[in-house]
Amino acid sequence: MSVKTLHDLFVHDLSDIYSAEKQLSKALPKMARAATDPMLAQAFTDHLAETHGQIERIDQIVESMQIKLKRIKCAAMEGLVEEGKEVIEEVEEGPVRDAALIGAAQKVEHYEIASYGTLAALAKHLDQPDAVKLLLETLQEEKSTDDKLSKMAEQGGGNAAAAAGKEGGDTSKASGKDAGSASKAIAKDDGDASKATTGVKKSGDAATTKKSSDTGSSKKAA
Ligand SMILES: [Fe+2]
Ligand SMILES: [Fe+2]
Repeated sequence: MSVKTLHDLFVHDLSDIYSAEKQLSKALPKMARAATDPMLAQAFTDHLAETHGQIERIDQIVESMQIKLKRIKCAAMEGLVEEGKEVIEEVEEGPVRDAALIGAAQKVEHYEIASYGTLAALAKHLDQPDAVKLLLETLQEEKSTDDKLSKMAEQGGGNAAAAAGKEGGDTSKASGKDAGSASKAIAKDDGDASKATTGVKKSGDAATTKKSSDTGSSKKAA
Protein backbone atom coordinates (compact mmCIF):
# COMPACT_ATOMS: atom_id res chain seq x y z
CA MET A 1 0.00 0.00 0.00
CA SER A 2 1.34 3.41 -0.83
CA VAL A 3 0.78 6.27 1.54
CA LYS A 4 0.85 9.61 -0.28
CA THR A 5 -1.51 11.95 1.52
CA LEU A 6 -2.41 12.69 5.12
CA HIS A 7 -5.73 10.97 4.41
CA ASP A 8 -3.82 7.83 3.33
CA LEU A 9 -1.74 8.10 6.48
CA PHE A 10 -4.85 8.43 8.63
CA VAL A 11 -6.35 5.28 7.06
CA HIS A 12 -3.05 3.46 7.52
CA ASP A 13 -2.68 4.47 11.18
CA LEU A 14 -6.34 3.75 11.94
CA SER A 15 -5.94 0.27 10.40
CA ASP A 16 -2.81 -0.23 12.48
CA ILE A 17 -4.48 0.69 15.79
CA TYR A 18 -7.53 -1.40 14.84
CA SER A 19 -5.23 -4.41 14.57
CA ALA A 20 -3.52 -3.39 17.82
CA GLU A 21 -6.83 -3.22 19.71
CA LYS A 22 -7.94 -6.59 18.31
CA GLN A 23 -4.68 -8.21 19.41
CA LEU A 24 -4.97 -6.59 22.83
CA SER A 25 -8.53 -7.81 23.31
CA LYS A 26 -7.15 -11.36 23.04
CA ALA A 27 -4.20 -10.70 25.36
CA LEU A 28 -5.98 -8.85 28.20
CA PRO A 29 -7.96 -11.88 29.50
CA LYS A 30 -4.66 -13.82 29.72
CA MET A 31 -3.05 -10.94 31.61
CA ALA A 32 -6.04 -10.81 33.98
CA ARG A 33 -5.70 -14.55 34.68
CA ALA A 34 -1.94 -14.18 35.26
CA ALA A 35 -2.31 -11.33 37.79
CA THR A 36 -2.17 -12.19 41.48
CA ASP A 37 -3.64 -8.99 42.91
CA PRO A 38 -7.42 -9.10 42.33
CA MET A 39 -7.41 -5.33 41.80
CA LEU A 40 -4.88 -5.65 38.99
CA ALA A 41 -6.89 -8.50 37.44
CA GLN A 42 -9.99 -6.28 37.65
CA ALA A 43 -8.15 -3.38 36.02
CA PHE A 44 -7.25 -5.63 33.06
CA THR A 45 -10.86 -6.89 32.84
CA ASP A 46 -12.21 -3.32 32.99
CA HIS A 47 -9.83 -2.24 30.25
CA LEU A 48 -10.94 -5.18 28.12
CA ALA A 49 -14.49 -3.80 28.20
CA GLU A 50 -13.13 -0.36 27.29
CA THR A 51 -11.10 -1.89 24.47
CA HIS A 52 -14.28 -3.38 22.95
CA GLY A 53 -15.80 0.10 23.06
CA GLN A 54 -12.69 1.54 21.41
CA ILE A 55 -12.99 -0.96 18.56
CA GLU A 56 -16.61 0.17 18.13
CA ARG A 57 -15.46 3.79 17.94
CA ILE A 58 -13.08 2.87 15.12
CA ASP A 59 -16.01 1.18 13.33
CA GLN A 60 -18.02 4.41 13.75
CA ILE A 61 -15.18 6.48 12.27
CA VAL A 62 -14.89 4.07 9.32
CA GLU A 63 -18.60 4.44 8.68
CA SER A 64 -18.82 8.21 9.06
CA MET A 65 -15.73 8.89 6.93
CA GLN A 66 -16.69 6.15 4.45
CA ILE A 67 -13.21 4.67 4.42
CA LYS A 68 -12.00 1.10 4.18
CA LEU A 69 -9.45 -0.23 6.66
CA LYS A 70 -6.33 -1.96 5.32
CA ARG A 71 -5.58 -5.52 6.30
CA ILE A 72 -2.40 -4.92 8.26
CA LYS A 73 -1.07 -6.43 11.45
CA CYS A 74 0.32 -4.01 14.03
CA ALA A 75 3.88 -5.30 14.47
CA ALA A 76 4.46 -3.12 17.53
CA MET A 77 1.50 -4.58 19.42
CA GLU A 78 2.53 -8.08 18.33
CA GLY A 79 5.90 -7.47 20.02
CA LEU A 80 4.39 -5.91 23.13
CA VAL A 81 1.94 -8.81 23.53
CA GLU A 82 4.84 -11.22 23.06
CA GLU A 83 6.72 -9.47 25.88
CA GLY A 84 3.62 -9.82 28.06
CA LYS A 85 3.64 -13.56 27.35
CA GLU A 86 7.30 -13.75 28.36
CA VAL A 87 6.44 -12.08 31.67
CA ILE A 88 3.79 -14.71 32.37
CA GLU A 89 6.16 -17.54 31.48
CA GLU A 90 9.34 -16.26 33.11
CA VAL A 91 8.34 -14.31 36.23
CA GLU A 92 7.24 -16.29 39.25
CA GLU A 93 3.60 -15.81 40.23
CA GLY A 94 3.04 -13.19 42.93
CA PRO A 95 3.72 -9.49 43.51
CA VAL A 96 6.88 -9.49 41.37
CA ARG A 97 4.96 -10.85 38.38
CA ASP A 98 2.27 -8.26 39.04
CA ALA A 99 4.91 -5.51 38.91
CA ALA A 100 6.20 -6.97 35.63
CA LEU A 101 2.65 -7.20 34.21
CA ILE A 102 2.04 -3.56 35.10
CA GLY A 103 5.25 -2.63 33.26
CA ALA A 104 4.21 -4.65 30.20
CA ALA A 105 0.71 -3.13 30.23
CA GLN A 106 2.09 0.41 30.52
CA LYS A 107 4.23 -0.13 27.43
CA VAL A 108 1.01 -1.03 25.62
CA GLU A 109 -0.81 2.04 26.94
CA HIS A 110 2.03 4.36 25.94
CA TYR A 111 1.97 2.97 22.42
CA GLU A 112 -1.78 3.53 22.24
CA ILE A 113 -1.50 7.05 23.69
CA ALA A 114 1.05 7.98 21.01
CA SER A 115 -1.10 6.39 18.28
CA TYR A 116 -4.39 8.03 19.27
CA GLY A 117 -2.72 11.42 19.82
CA THR A 118 -1.38 11.29 16.27
CA LEU A 119 -4.71 10.04 14.85
CA ALA A 120 -6.64 12.84 16.57
CA ALA A 121 -4.17 15.41 15.16
CA LEU A 122 -4.55 13.92 11.67
CA ALA A 123 -8.37 13.86 11.92
CA LYS A 124 -8.31 17.51 12.99
CA HIS A 125 -6.15 18.38 10.01
CA LEU A 126 -8.53 16.46 7.74
CA ASP A 127 -11.43 18.47 9.18
CA GLN A 128 -13.25 15.48 10.68
CA PRO A 129 -14.63 16.78 14.01
CA ASP A 130 -16.70 13.65 14.73
CA ALA A 131 -13.63 11.44 14.33
CA VAL A 132 -11.57 13.84 16.50
CA LYS A 133 -14.16 13.58 19.27
CA LEU A 134 -14.22 9.77 19.18
CA LEU A 135 -10.42 9.52 19.06
CA LEU A 136 -10.02 11.89 22.00
CA GLU A 137 -12.52 9.84 24.04
CA THR A 138 -10.38 6.77 23.48
CA LEU A 139 -7.18 8.73 24.15
CA GLN A 140 -8.60 9.76 27.52
CA GLU A 141 -9.41 6.13 28.41
CA GLU A 142 -5.86 5.06 27.56
CA LYS A 143 -4.40 7.86 29.69
CA SER A 144 -6.68 6.99 32.62
CA THR A 145 -5.65 3.33 32.38
CA ASP A 146 -2.00 4.36 32.34
CA ASP A 147 -2.52 6.56 35.42
CA LYS A 148 -4.33 3.75 37.21
CA LEU A 149 -1.43 1.38 36.46
CA SER A 150 1.12 3.95 37.66
CA LYS A 151 -0.73 4.23 40.98
CA MET A 152 -0.84 0.43 41.31
CA ALA A 153 2.91 0.24 40.63
CA GLU A 154 3.54 2.77 43.38
CA GLN A 155 1.18 1.12 45.88
CA GLY A 156 2.26 -2.42 44.98
CA GLY A 157 5.93 -1.64 45.69
CA GLY A 158 5.55 -2.53 49.36
CA ASN A 159 3.91 -5.88 48.66
CA ALA A 160 6.58 -6.86 46.17
CA ALA A 161 9.29 -5.89 48.65
CA ALA A 162 7.78 -8.06 51.36
CA ALA A 163 7.44 -11.02 49.02
CA ALA A 164 10.67 -10.77 47.09
CA GLY A 165 13.13 -9.55 49.70
CA LYS A 166 15.37 -6.50 49.61
CA GLU A 167 16.34 -6.77 45.96
CA GLY A 168 12.77 -7.11 44.82
CA GLY A 169 11.73 -4.18 46.96
CA ASP A 170 14.28 -1.88 45.39
CA THR A 171 13.21 -2.95 41.93
CA SER A 172 9.55 -2.31 42.59
CA LYS A 173 10.18 1.11 44.01
CA ALA A 174 12.34 2.00 41.05
CA SER A 175 9.82 0.74 38.54
CA GLY A 176 6.95 2.57 40.21
CA LYS A 177 8.83 5.82 40.08
CA ASP A 178 10.00 5.33 36.53
CA ALA A 179 6.53 4.44 35.35
CA GLY A 180 5.25 7.69 36.79
CA SER A 181 7.95 9.74 35.11
CA ALA A 182 7.36 7.96 31.83
CA SER A 183 3.65 8.71 32.01
CA LYS A 184 4.33 12.38 32.60
CA ALA A 185 6.79 12.46 29.72
CA ILE A 186 4.27 10.84 27.40
CA ALA A 187 1.48 13.19 28.45
CA LYS A 188 3.74 16.06 27.41
CA ASP A 189 4.76 14.44 24.14
CA ASP A 190 1.20 13.66 23.39
CA GLY A 191 0.22 17.29 23.76
CA ASP A 192 2.82 18.09 21.14
CA ALA A 193 1.50 15.36 18.88
CA SER A 194 -2.03 16.77 19.08
CA LYS A 195 -0.73 20.09 17.86
CA ALA A 196 1.25 18.48 15.07
CA THR A 197 -0.27 18.44 11.64
CA THR A 198 2.28 16.34 9.82
CA GLY A 199 3.39 12.76 10.11
CA VAL A 200 6.98 13.86 10.61
CA LYS A 201 6.18 14.93 14.16
CA LYS A 202 4.82 11.50 14.91
CA SER A 203 8.06 9.63 14.36
CA GLY A 204 9.85 11.94 16.76
CA ASP A 205 7.23 11.47 19.44
CA ALA A 206 7.03 7.74 18.87
CA ALA A 207 10.78 7.46 19.34
CA THR A 208 10.60 9.40 22.60
CA THR A 209 7.71 7.28 23.77
CA LYS A 210 9.49 4.04 23.11
CA LYS A 211 12.68 5.23 24.76
CA SER A 212 11.06 6.42 27.97
CA SER A 213 8.89 3.34 28.09
CA ASP A 214 11.91 1.07 27.76
CA THR A 215 13.85 3.01 30.38
CA GLY A 216 10.98 2.73 32.80
CA SER A 217 10.47 -0.95 32.16
CA SER A 218 10.00 -2.84 35.39
CA LYS A 219 10.48 -6.01 33.40
CA LYS A 220 14.05 -5.05 32.57
CA ALA A 221 14.67 -3.86 36.11
CA ALA A 222 13.21 -7.10 37.48
FE1 LIG B 1 -7.01 0.66 23.47
FE1 LIG C 1 -5.31 0.55 26.18
